[in-house]
Amino acid sequence: MKAIQVGLLGIGTVGSGVFNVLSRNQEEIQRRAGRGIEIAMVADLDTARAQSIVGNRTKVVKDAREVIANPDIDIVVELIGGYGIARELMMEAIAAGKHVVTANKALLAVHGTEIFAAAHKRGVMVAFEAAVAGGIPIIKALREGLTANRIEWIAGIINGTTNFILSEMRDKGLDFDVVLKEAQRLGYAEADPTFDIEGVDAAHKATIMSAIAFGIPVQFDKAYVEGITKLATQDIRYAEQLGYRIKLLGITKRAARGIELRVHPSLVPAKRLIANVEGAMNAVVVQGDAVGTTLHYGKGAGSEPTASAVIADLVDITRLHTADAAHRVPHLAFQPDQMSSEPV
Ligand code: HSE
Repeated sequence: MKAIQVGLLGIGTVGSGVFNVLSRNQEEIQRRAGRGIEIAMVADLDTARAQSIVGNRTKVVKDAREVIANPDIDIVVELIGGYGIARELMMEAIAAGKHVVTANKALLAVHGTEIFAAAHKRGVMVAFEAAVAGGIPIIKALREGLTANRIEWIAGIINGTTNFILSEMRDKGLDFDVVLKEAQRLGYAEADPTFDIEGVDAAHKATIMSAIAFGIPVQFDKAYVEGITKLATQDIRYAEQLGYRIKLLGITKRAARGIELRVHPSLVPAKRLIANVEGAMNAVVVQGDAVGTTLHYGKGAGSEPTASAVIADLVDITRLHTADAAHRVPHLAFQPDQMSSEPV
């Protein structure tokens, strides 16, 4: 069977991670998906750099609309970010009958209702595992593994940049600005880092989780948002002396009336697992009525951790898109006829 054809819109940090991981783990991913997954086309304004990443066998174009107009492309991966052109392209891809995979939490948190409605109407999927907590499969956990539960609350460290800044300020006594520059150098921060440090990025992600957990529309405008810019190294030190760590938490929970949705610096007892999540790592705690408390921990930003989530969505769509019913529900990692003969 011909590989499913993927068009990438934007090949920066995450896009190059997607290309590298798909190439490196091609065989295993194909066995899991039941079909090959091929990046057939890439659109990027810097075509020379894009071509140097993907090599000569993949077509590179400047205009993203060429990818959307190509009838051979089954899935469009939007990795441009932001609200403007990304929103237009996503709506056009949906209208053209393409499935869409995106890491664009800002767009989904603000315009998700319109986007999901358009996808529903057109009968295509919009998948966004990479939009929340990078490599942690929290969307799949909420939708699949925890689907039997009445979710009571979710609280998480869902912005790697701010957690990195708070950790470095505490451990090394470094100043805010110095650590922010380092987070940017390491590729954790958003193109506009005020989204990170003012809590906006975390609120985008909390908004998306809230919609999934509580079955409400995505409503970023209803979130209370406070970042870490007013914190000084002394605040972190005083908290430490009292047995607490300061963490920027994204919280959504059932309240007496409606749903709470908020992001703000929080004092967390130092003994708690989540208080010990350091650096750019993320962690999400979910409280369900049946399962109790679950903790989901991992890398929340960076090239390959985010690519891992993008590819998980590509595999999901490939399974559902593929006529072969055996692959729609993966009983084991591989189907019986595709198991490796390597000894255990
Ligand atoms: N700027 C984000 C962060 C990237 O620091 O977590 C991943 O969404």
